[in-house]
Amino acid sequence: MDIYIKERKEVNCACEALILPFTEDVAGSYSGLHPSFSKLIKHVFAKEFHGKQNECLLVPAPEDLKPERIFFIGLGKKSDLSSEKVRQAGGKSGIFLRDAGMKKIAVSTRVLLSHKISPADFIEGCLLGVYRFQKYLHTKKTASIGSITILSKASKELANTLHWTESLTSSVNFARDLINTPANDMTPMHLADTALSLKSKNLTVKILGQKDAVKLGMGSYLSVAQGSHQPSKFIILDYRGSKGRPLVLIGKSITFDSGGISLKPADGMEKMKYDMAGGAAVLGVMKAVSALQLPVHIIGILPATENLPGGSASRPGDVVRAINGKTIEIISTDAEGRMTLADAIGYAIRYKPRAVIDIATLTGACSIAFGSSAIAMMGNNRDLLNAMKRAGENTYERVWEMPIFEECKESLKSDIADLKNTGGKSGSLLSSAYFLSEFAGKIPWVHLDIAGTAWAEKERPYIPKGASGVGVRLLLALIKELQ
Ligand code: BES
Ligand code: MN
Ligand code: ZN
Repeated sequence: MDIYIKERKEVNCACEALILPFTEDVAGSYSGLHPSFSKLIKHVFAKEFHGKQNECLLVPAPEDLKPERIFFIGLGKKSDLSSEKVRQAGGKSGIFLRDAGMKKIAVSTRVLLSHKISPADFIEGCLLGVYRFQKYLHTKKTASIGSITILSKASKELANTLHWTESLTSSVNFARDLINTPANDMTPMHLADTALSLKSKNLTVKILGQKDAVKLGMGSYLSVAQGSHQPSKFIILDYRGSKGRPLVLIGKSITFDSGGISLKPADGMEKMKYDMAGGAAVLGVMKAVSALQLPVHIIGILPATENLPGGSASRPGDVVRAINGKTIEIISTDAEGRMTLADAIGYAIRYKPRAVIDIATLTGACSIAFGSSAIAMMGNNRDLLNAMKRAGENTYERVWEMPIFEECKESLKSDIADLKNTGGKSGSLLSSAYFLSEFAGKIPWVHLDIAGTAWAEKERPYIPKGASGVGVRLLLALIKELQ
């Protein structure tokens, strides 16, 4: 979708549909417009439209106006207006107008600007909302919107914000594509190739194969990989937009989680292709920071592998040694994410990073506790936790902090090794984070569990059904703040 900024009156805007955003209290919103507008607005507000949040109405335009149609979109109560409401309205508008076959649309910015909300928020919602995954469809759905024109004075600030928005949304949609792709195609090898495709002047990519991982002593990660014929790929992306200690982002990258020998129930197992959503989010962030040339040093790590119950798979009861020398007794081969993250965190701290953030579809318990409404967050550094919380509020990819209690140690005590990989399902949201904390040590570290938020069971205003791409916007907002 092409995006233009034009300083033009609504009346003179030649387009198939002109979007007018409205709050519920319409009075004065569009007072300066051509009288035909006022008449139409008065008319529809009498019965068919009220300005309720995400309410939509498309009507033919009066003949003395240039736009062919007028699209009314509701923003809800004036007093509750926020960037998030505007993003949602953008998503709803984009989907509605696309499905109505509109190719050339425009949006009036009067109401947004009078509330000091950037039109870029509307565009963000629109670009995220119209996303569709059609790679495997023989007959593609109706064509997409070709262009959207923002009716506003052009300014350097708006142009910059829009540039950010375009990079951001294309990175979210890039992550969604990776996650939606089925596991027969989205193998660790394919993830590695995708990482390699992001190479640029400032971004180097290194792929460690099985042998390299053996040499590094990643027995924990390798114990997951050994049940699959797909070769594992430990992927490292290094973006140097500035000197100094890096921020390391680690994304859980299980391209399919069958549970291994501790096999999952068949019902719903097909969804476990999204167990690499953390890795996809990290790739999305790397793509965006490099496109935007941000002045930061960021390392992305994806310990990619499949979790299958092949003939050489790990058994419950096996003991393996992680990169930091700690031994782990595998109680459940379905608690595989933490096994791969343990070695990734252990590897990451060799960079002496300023902070490590891991993002992972780690526990079913997270999704039971929070559903799709929040990311569970745990960590060992108050400033980093607070910064993440702010980023969550700004992007509406909200995080909710959970504790790491010393008592969790008890549940992970093994009789024959340093740690067990699980203390059972009860309390597993907390104990999974405790397990990871043993590998982060004193390095500032935050863990994000996105098991509930990475996959949308129902479509939302700017999140279509399927992969949500959660984490990309959150982490970019955090990076923007830290830079
Ligand atoms: N990938 C799953 C967690 C998951 C479940 C993500 C549902 C998204 C939706 C993870 O590897 C897993 O299987 N966790 C187990 C841990 C248990 C064995 C301690 C779980 O949560 O059941
Ligand atoms: Mn699992
Ligand atoms: Zn998993």
